[in-house]
Amino acid sequence: MAQTQTREPGLHTVSVTVNGTHYSREVEPRQLLVYFIREQIGLTGTHVGCDTSQCGACTLLLNGVAVKSCTILAVQVDGADIKTIEGYAEPNGKLHPIQQAFWEEHGLQCGFCTPGMVVTIDQLLRDNPNPSEAEVRKGLDGNLCRCTGYQNIVKSALSAGRKLRGEEPFEKPDTAMTEAAGVH
Ligand code: FES
Ligand code: FES
Repeated sequence: MAQTQTREPGLHTVSVTVNGTHYSREVEPRQLLVYFIREQIGLTGTHVGCDTSQCGACTLLLNGVAVKSCTILAVQVDGADIKTIEGYAEPNGKLHPIQQAFWEEHGLQCGFCTPGMVVTIDQLLRDNPNPSEAEVRKGLDGNLCRCTGYQNIVKSALSAGRKLRGEEPFEKPDTAMTEAAGVH
């Protein structure tokens, strides 16, 4: 006789691929995607800053498009391909060019907004590989930095664009020298 899987009443199965790994979880219909990612998948780099679609700390890529994951229900993403901040660096720890640019340009202070900023800049630079400073500022207007580090975040985005276009080395020479000297 075929075995039936018992499921608590009212729960729905959601299957997704996150950073290349497949997951299947039972969720309540009211569960927001950001909590699904943090609490059920266990990837806590996607942050909750406001829960009301204001701050952008919860931004991730859903089927290649940057979205605020506090505005979406987990049950709406069944079958989706998701990329979170944990999917940006390479398995050997080599940073993504956007992360490298944040490091070099001092684009973060407490770092709370940084995952959302990186994902939003990824989308921005795919849509417009050579943005002006004004276009970067406009593209980031849905992401808030409570440390008000906007100047360096914008510098980081512009530097990331140059790196991705091959106009700037992945690692700036002064950073390489600092590392070689063991100064971090
Ligand atoms: Fe989603 Fe602030 S937590 S926009
Ligand atoms: Fe602290 Fe942006 S670096 S919130």
